[in-house]
Amino acid sequence: MKRHLISATDLTRDDAVLILDTAEELARVADRPIKKLPTLRGRTVVNLFFEDSTRTRISFEAAAKRLSADVINFSARGSSVSKGESLKDTAMTLEAMGADAVVIRHHDSGAPHRLATSGWIRGSVINAGDGTHEHPTQALLDAFTLRRRLAAEAGGEATGGDLSGRRVTIVGDILHSRVARSGVRLLTTLGAEVTVVAPPTLLPIGVERWPCEVEYHLDPVLPKSDAVMMLRVQRERMNAAYFPTEREYARRYGLDAPRMARMPDHAVVMHPGPMNRGMEITAEVADSPRCTAVEQVAGGVSVRMAVLYLLLGGAFPEDLPAPTTDHTA
Ligand code: NCD
Repeated sequence: MKRHLISATDLTRDDAVLILDTAEELARVADRPIKKLPTLRGRTVVNLFFEDSTRTRISFEAAAKRLSADVINFSARGSSVSKGESLKDTAMTLEAMGADAVVIRHHDSGAPHRLATSGWIRGSVINAGDGTHEHPTQALLDAFTLRRRLAAEAGGEATGGDLSGRRVTIVGDILHSRVARSGVRLLTTLGAEVTVVAPPTLLPIGVERWPCEVEYHLDPVLPKSDAVMMLRVQRERMNAAYFPTEREYARRYGLDAPRMARMPDHAVVMHPGPMNRGMEITAEVADSPRCTAVEQVAGGVSVRMAVLYLLLGGAFPEDLPAPTTDHTA
């Protein structure tokens, strides 16, 4: 596995399955009364957040703390970044503090790549979402959640398997979505067949070269989906009108109960959060047992523990079976 996690394309199928299997083992820790492991004792993880976040920031913080790492939370607001300090100067401060891993969320696409390749820091860089580019740990937690649900439905274990032949539909603001970019890449690496659905105005130039199908209409795709992932319309990244009205968008691309009923019985509804209830998803669908949004958040902690553990090379706890890449065993 590479030293940094910048893009979903950094991961081979074996890397991805190893992370998911490790996360599956580490998830058992969440069921214990004491949720902490000594694995990363003495290591320092810095959460460097230049953009607002709820789930991702606290998820990385919980993951690092459960592995006993020291965690430094740095948000641009209230720091010297608001006084104009550059990424380079911030990085050099982190290096001086001995950061073993830097988890970075940044409004500019490419900032984590810059940090990883600049030589400013020695630790691992983990992309927690950069601009409209990538969000690889979100893709991993989505795959983790989906694999678990599908395995549970088949009455089996989630470990070892990939998503071969599973059909995942990603709906909405694909243009501005780093979740979609990383999701399409990782899910196809894991063998899934992905379809993106959006109005033409919310599809990026070059989408025809992505490893997925592209559709403009949601209804025909629903009966063929094992999972339907709804995306938020990212108004904060829009500088023009991309659709006539919110009502019109919800009518054509929103998931409501009658639409959900067109999905196969086993199919799940996913959402990375934050949800805009009434826009891309109705409250009824968001609160239904078929919606995995809360499981995705819980799985996020296990997946980020696995990523930190594998990148930082901690000692695997003795009382848990160590995951291997050998899935034939
Ligand atoms: C996403 C993000 O920030 O890219 N959310 C998340 O990480 N849970 C999606 C979004 O903001 O809509």
